[in-house]
Formats: sequence, structure tokens, C-alpha cells
Amino acid sequence: MQILQTLFHSDLGQQAAQLRTDVFVHEQHVPPDEELDHLDATATHFVAVENGHVIATLRIVFMISDGESVAKIGRVAVAKNRRNTGIGRNLMLAAIAHLRDQGCHQCLLNAQTHVISFYEKLGFIPHGPIFLEANIPHRHMILTLHPPKKTQPEGARKE
Ligand SMILES: CC(C)(COP(=O)(O)OP(=O)(O)OC[C@H]1O[C@@H](n2cnc3c(N)ncnc32)[C@H](O)[C@@H]1OP(=O)(O)O)[C@@H](O)C(=O)NCCC(=O)NCCS
Repeated sequence: MQILQTLFHSDLGQQAAQLRTDVFVHEQHVPPDEELDHLDATATHFVAVENGHVIATLRIVFMISDGESVAKIGRVAVAKNRRNTGIGRNLMLAAIAHLRDQGCHQCLLNAQTHVISFYEKLGFIPHGPIFLEANIPHRHMILTLHPPKKTQPEGARKE
């Protein structure tokens, strides 16, 4: 199995879109127009590939929050017949390593409540109340990757 970074409109990116449709739309009943969205074209997509076939996927959307670079991981999906063999964890670790290399400060995600412990095992911490997204209960989770650049309190004197 290989973990690769790809673009949405590549062959692998389109296989990833099909896998997301299978998992989120057909399995979890997320409305199709909420699943694939305008962020896909510019997001970074990671895929796990075996014999040319995408068996797992996630996407990263970068944003600036409070002057710091943060990233949001989403659409994490492993093919149904390949779950619980470490593929999801390895895909997440590859994405997190990429974000550290990029100097990203924080990684955010919205976790379906039934998979919170999957993300906790990767170091993410739940944050805030439960909310509904696509009619599925979720919680915000945060992984801090690098301390923020602005470490000096406001008004602190520069030496
Ligand atoms: C959630 C998902 C991505 C996990 O991927 P996976 O490849 O099956 O998970 P892994 O085998 O890498 O599991 C890593 C660890 O998380 C745990 N874990 C896996 N799935 C879990 C789940 N649904 N709930 C709680 N813990 C889970 C495993 O037991 C394992 O723990 P261990 O290291 O102590 O043995 C996969 O089940 C999936 O695609 N689900 C459907 C889509 C979905 O719900 N995505 C999440 C959207 S927020």
C-alpha cells in the first residue's frame, strides 16, 4: 500500500471522490450536494492506494486563523472491507507529518461522535459541545502541531 498526495481532478482524486460517495452518501446518508463541495478543487487530498485502487482518503483545507496557519482535516474514509487494519491511522499520520513539515500551527477537524476515540489515539482533543452536521452528531477536535509564533504577551519589550 502507498500513501500519496493528489489533486481532486486527477484519476486518484476522482477515485477518492467515488469512495467518499460510497461511504458518506450511500453508507451514512449524507446529502450528495453536501459531500463533494467547492473546497475540493483547491484542497490537498491524501489517498491510500493498493494495486492502483484508492482504498482510503482524506482532505486538508488550509486557512489562516488569528494570523496563524491552521489546517482542517475532513472527509476521512476507509473502504468498508478494509477498516480496522490500521489504514485510517496511517493515512492520518501521513497527513499530520505533512502539516508539521508545512509549519502549520494547529490541525482541526469535526469528528463524528462515534469515532472520537479514533482521533484521540492520534492526539486530538475534543473541544466544545456536540453539534449536528449533515444530521450526524459531531464534536470539534484540535491537535496542536507547533506553538504559535506570537508567544510574547502584548506590550512585551523586545531585547
Ligand atoms: C473511522 C475510520 C476512518 C477509521 O479507519 P480504520 O482504518 O478503520 O481505523 P484503524 O484501523 O487505523 O484504527 C486505528 C485505531 O482507532 C480505533 N478505531 C478504528 N475505528 C474506530 C471507530 N469507529 N471507533 C472508535 N475507534 C476506532 C482502532 O480500534 C484502532 O485502535 P488501536 O490502535 O488501539 O488498535 C473508518 O472506520 C471509516 O472510514 N469509517 C466510515 C467513515 C467515517 O465515519 N469517517 C469519520 C468521519 S469524522
